[in-house]
Amino acid sequence: MGDPATPPASELAAMTIVDGASLKHPFSDRVPVRSIVCRPDGGAGLAGNRIRAGGWVKTGREQGKGSFAFLEVNDGSCPANLQVIVDAGVEELSTLVQTGTCVSVEGVLKVPPEGAKQKIELRVERVLHVGPTDPAKYPIPKTKLSLEFLRDHVHLRPRTNTISAVARIRNALAFATHSFFQEHGFLYVHTPIITTSDCEGAGEMFQATTLISEAEKLDKELIENPPPTEADVEAARLTVTQRGEIVAQLKASKATRDDISASVAELKVAKENLSRLVERAKLKPGIPKKDGKIDYTQDFFARQAFLTVSGQLQVETYACAVTSVYTFGPTFRAEHSHTSRHLAEFWMVEPEIAFADLQDDMNCAEAYVKYMCGWLLDKCYDDMELMAKLYDKGCIDRLRMVSSTPFERISYTEAVRLLEEAVKGGKEFEKDVEWGIDLASEHERYLTEDIFKKPVIVYNYPKGIKAFYMRLNDDSKTVAAMDILVPKVGELIGGSQREERYEVIQRRIAEMGLPLEPYEWYLDLRRYGTVKHCGFGLGFERMVLFATGIDNIRDVIPFPRYPGRADL
Ligand code: 4AD
Ligand code: MG
Repeated sequence: MGDPATPPASELAAMTIVDGASLKHPFSDRVPVRSIVCRPDGGAGLAGNRIRAGGWVKTGREQGKGSFAFLEVNDGSCPANLQVIVDAGVEELSTLVQTGTCVSVEGVLKVPPEGAKQKIELRVERVLHVGPTDPAKYPIPKTKLSLEFLRDHVHLRPRTNTISAVARIRNALAFATHSFFQEHGFLYVHTPIITTSDCEGAGEMFQATTLISEAEKLDKELIENPPPTEADVEAARLTVTQRGEIVAQLKASKATRDDISASVAELKVAKENLSRLVERAKLKPGIPKKDGKIDYTQDFFARQAFLTVSGQLQVETYACAVTSVYTFGPTFRAEHSHTSRHLAEFWMVEPEIAFADLQDDMNCAEAYVKYMCGWLLDKCYDDMELMAKLYDKGCIDRLRMVSSTPFERISYTEAVRLLEEAVKGGKEFEKDVEWGIDLASEHERYLTEDIFKKPVIVYNYPKGIKAFYMRLNDDSKTVAAMDILVPKVGELIGGSQREERYEVIQRRIAEMGLPLEPYEWYLDLRRYGTVKHCGFGLGFERMVLFATGIDNIRDVIPFPRYPGRADL
């Protein structure tokens, strides 16, 4: 639903619809709760319509000495519930009123009596389905539950107000992402999830291998069916020799053709048996090794492979051919970070633009973040109101501020100067500030939350703390990198202009102690038809954190993965 002050055109149109059939979900016989209660009139204009609705009971209570029940039913289409009234004659009420029960009902929409909170309610005439819940066992009762508790029930937590609102906000941000880049002429490119190059060069990759499962399979097989001993192989070899001699004798004594053929067949069997035993005798338990090292030529891809930490290097190949591209997919980092800002599996949006420099990169990133904020205000106002009520009362104002205020842009050198000044003024940081350090989260948040009180783009970082692919500036000390820091989160975006000069990038790879061979294809982009280009990566969950004001990143992804935890 849009800002109540300015309902979108689609909703104004919905106000005039009074026919229940036209509200029906296109692929289900029910009317989504959203189409009823999220209208500007709260659904009042639909009174008189016969409809079917379905969802899960949030709260239920028997009334009038058990003669009827009120149910608050939610189907996840919006934060609001539909009030449903069922008479005792229609269905057994004690089952229906339990929180978590699934109901599908048919009835007539009616305007409730004067003074009621709801603008519309459903008077049930038929109950089509009941999915009961045992209240003594249901893990998500009506009481307020902490987000931390809900992490132990990731399969049921989408039924809560918060997690379903976060799901709708994520969905809206994903749609906004595609909409922004498609509107601006970017091509969506699917980069690989399994990769053989380490983009960030930080060695925080999960390995993709079948060597371990194959070794386990072999170990089991060798226990059940032990390999032949040397004596077994010798015996088989002797049999081959003896059978060979018999064939030779038969041939020398001009035996019948049939006798010779029979003994040749026996020789063949003996040879086959021998070669099978020789092969099996070679089998060794454990992971295959060569020269004391793991032999990856025997692995699935015949080389070492990993889950990607970023689609950037691969998406650059398309930017250097079709100019404006983006990738949006899962990325994986085996960092042992237990912070509220890190996940081992997270989603990243990575645009890459050819014929563009660091300024263009910052302009694109700023426009994209603003677009997403505006989109949420326009499309998810009711979910944002829930976030403001439950988690962060300033979150809606923050979206408004970010969507309308230019971001601050300062160089890294200037950022360090400001932080040093703050220290002189009495501000204490855990990590000391000096030129050359990688800014810590506390520094980033101080810049954006305390000094500027809005998003800040920090650019031109020291080369020593950034990845090899960033373009070296003329001072030879800094690279054309930029990070966007936002209140609540710190780093939301990391990006750079890419080093397009062949000699320079080759030197940088060597300087960083990285092997050249895996990057030869990447160097080819510079060898053949090189072009100025830039790009950035936005951590999608960090954007959801920033928008909602929720504290922990584990609560804004459906299935969080972090050290020690990967449920489902
Ligand atoms: O700054 P990063 O490491 O940049 C890259 O990976 C570049 N290759 C992107 C590019 O230029 N195409 O990561 C980008 C963003 C960060 O700013 C942060 O928002 C997010 O990804 N991020 C994480 N989010 C959740 N959990 C983690 N462990 C994250 N690590 C990075
Ligand atoms: Mg970064």
